[in-house]
Amino acid sequence: MPGAKNPFTSTRDAVAEDTANAQERNRLWWERMPMTYADWHADDRLPVDAEEFKQIETRVFAASPFLRQWFDRMDFQGQKVLDVGCGSGALSCRLAKMGARVTAIDITEAAVALARRNARAQGLDMDIVRMDAEDMALPPASFDFVFSWGVLHHTDDIGAAFREVSRVLRPGKSGLVMVYHRASAVYYLNGLKWLLVKGKLFRGHTLRSVQDFYTDGYYHRYLRRHEIAGLLAGAGLTARRISVTQYQKSILPFIPGWLDRALKARFGMCLVAEFDKPVD
Ligand SMILES: C[S@@+](CC[C@H](N)C(=O)[O-])C[C@H]1O[C@@H](n2cnc3c(N)ncnc32)[C@H](O)[C@@H]1O
Repeated sequence: MPGAKNPFTSTRDAVAEDTANAQERNRLWWERMPMTYADWHADDRLPVDAEEFKQIETRVFAASPFLRQWFDRMDFQGQKVLDVGCGSGALSCRLAKMGARVTAIDITEAAVALARRNARAQGLDMDIVRMDAEDMALPPASFDFVFSWGVLHHTDDIGAAFREVSRVLRPGKSGLVMVYHRASAVYYLNGLKWLLVKGKLFRGHTLRSVQDFYTDGYYHRYLRRHEIAGLLAGAGLTARRISVTQYQKSILPFIPGWLDRALKARFGMCLVAEFDKPVD
């Protein structure tokens, strides 16, 4: 699309003009670009009917071997599960279909409206509420599982969000958080492409600042393993397993499947922390 606007940076610039408040910038970015797994460049990114909502869920699971395997081995029957940053609700709906009693929160009106339409279209009963992960209006120790996929690296104060995750989780219960992974091919290879091939280096950009050109959200931190371990520990949570994964598409062109899987387990863009809240 020669001459087309970059949807990431144009939304970022517009939001920065509209407010100086850090968390408002995060919220407004997502109000304008709700997560629907549609092409970020498309004019019409919003699902309209039950069929299109189901297609989003199909697309998410088709794209993520990790999510397929993880959901297959989990049992949420009768569990009270919180989905933090639900977006259009694809994963909240899957949790509800597995028998969980789901509360889904998101900082935007847009996501709450989409997730409600999604749940209604699929005949699912869920509590879907607009709420900031950094300040949840939810009672302490009220959930059996806290789930958050691709959200907390976008919030202004990630430490506050982890502390809230811990506060609402019952002692002895567990959760899963996925954030972007710093030691990833996406961070370094895409970064180098934007710096060198697209010439951003000559306009004063760094490996960190070029992320703005291809990463979603107003803020988008890429975390290292020790950083997520530190956030969990700081929130009083115990890391059970920290793993790395990526979506289905090959990490590099023209490589065999075994190499692709090995590289993704080391340099994938998703850093997944599975954790427990110790019993006091
Ligand atoms: C990349 S989308 C992921 C959506 C969903 N988890 C999924 O996988 O489809 C990130 C979502 O996080 C939400 N979000 C960002 N910061 C948040 C916060 N502080 N509290 C709650 N939701 C937040 C955004 O509004 C957006 O819907």
